[in-house]
Amino acid sequence: MASDARRLHCDQAPAWAELQSYFDGVGRDLDLRDAFRADPARFDAFSQDAPHVFADLSKNLIDIKAEALLLQLARECGLEQHRDAMFAGEPINVTEGRAVKHWLLRTPRGASSDPDAIEVHATLDAMLAYAEKVRADSAITDVVNIGIGGSDLGPQMAVLALEEFAVPGKRFHFVSNVDGHELASVLRQVRPESTLFLIASKTFTTVETMTNAQSARTWFEAQGGRDVARHFAALTTNIAAAADFDITTTFGFWDWVGGRYSLWSAIGLPIAIAIGTERFRELLAGAHAMDRHFATSPLARNLPVRLGVLDVWYRNFHGFASRSIAPYHSALKRLPAYLQQLEMESNGKRVDMQGMPLAQASSPVLWGEPGTNGQHAYFQMLHQGTDRVPVEFIAVKHAGHTLAGHHGQLLANGLAQAQALMQGKADRGGHRDFPGNRPSTFFVFDRLDPATLGAFLALYEHRVFVSGSLWGLNSFDQWGVELGKVLAKALVPRLDAGDVAGLDASTAGLLKRLTPRH
Ligand code: F6P
Repeated sequence: MASDARRLHCDQAPAWAELQSYFDGVGRDLDLRDAFRADPARFDAFSQDAPHVFADLSKNLIDIKAEALLLQLARECGLEQHRDAMFAGEPINVTEGRAVKHWLLRTPRGASSDPDAIEVHATLDAMLAYAEKVRADSAITDVVNIGIGGSDLGPQMAVLALEEFAVPGKRFHFVSNVDGHELASVLRQVRPESTLFLIASKTFTTVETMTNAQSARTWFEAQGGRDVARHFAALTTNIAAAADFDITTTFGFWDWVGGRYSLWSAIGLPIAIAIGTERFRELLAGAHAMDRHFATSPLARNLPVRLGVLDVWYRNFHGFASRSIAPYHSALKRLPAYLQQLEMESNGKRVDMQGMPLAQASSPVLWGEPGTNGQHAYFQMLHQGTDRVPVEFIAVKHAGHTLAGHHGQLLANGLAQAQALMQGKADRGGHRDFPGNRPSTFFVFDRLDPATLGAFLALYEHRVFVSGSLWGLNSFDQWGVELGKVLAKALVPRLDAGDVAGLDASTAGLLKRLTPRH
């Protein structure tokens, strides 16, 4: 399929109508407890291995017929052609006229004939050599990443997730917010002579990042810091802007890497410094294994596809508006925030490729906290609230610590929550009743290591691709972030001056409250 403009609207595909009547007749009322009783092979039918990740989908409100229809829908909508177009480097990001090639960043040397492959590997080699130099430099004790969105969430999440593998003697800090409290707090903890600042910005124009970078630079010089070349590096596609900032150590990437898909590029430098060359290559290899799985597995055994069509089933037929992420591993603390950007910035769209309104709902809200913490906060609502929210559990078989008695409790709690959501409990009625039949997916990792993390993140990227593709939207632009940026820019001088002329009454009233002059 050469052009996305010709992609079929899925709601007009024959399978959509069939799904609707199947949902109205049977699907809506599927009861998981009955489904397990009726089909002893249900667990096997709805669970599968994919590279580094095992997934149990059997506690979802789906049956073999519904999944078959959803896969038929995917075929009718040209999902496979769309996927192949991405992997062929076609400009499927139609609103920006760009290819979508984050997968190339993790393709092994020599395995792709893409014209950018050579440059990708040359940059990766240079970045990893630099990472090794920093790792070996005991005078550098603190690495401060200044970036926001995709230039923050991925590296921050991964450095935390892979803490067990991190080089000793270095602390990692992540400054994203334009709120000066964040940078000020980090600057109080570091010294110029032992700090490396990484200015991470795809565009090198993002106001938050530029403001923080400027302040860091001013602080560095005011504290007697010397040798900007040694203490500042830029990670960006905009090499010229980095040079204007007088940064000479720069690692580039390309406009075909979306911000939220960029941790595999130079944006991953903090990860590479933390875990080193070999481990960083394992992260890439894990993601690549998942890329191959997505590109080549039959749809019925293709995990990103099975998850993506389930997302469509839940959002458009069941009408579920949110999904909760429950990593039962505290090192995955920032995973929900990372996945929020990945899914909601990709698929939080209301128009199709041509800018025409979509006929159906798109991205759900993603949210979550690590288990068991969530159990003592919002799980009440998941078990007994009026809404049904699909929950995604992530459990890791082997702990990365040796403390006795913890890991078994952690895993048992994750299993128990999924069990409770499904089973429910009839008690004396009223407050003590659990309705059950609440859906969940359960992911199992053997270990939380770089390869597994890479595979899981790629799985999620592709799953978001699948639902976005079926919804017929462009998962790779983000026009919705622009308006607020423009308005904020206009309000900055007004706040200083207390100027409310022409503003709506609410913004005017609030600005007066906030303006320092009043
Ligand atoms: O405003 C949203 C956004 O463009 C994200 O898509 C992106 O990850 C983030 O800002 C940061 O952008 P940059 O890396 O160009 O500073």
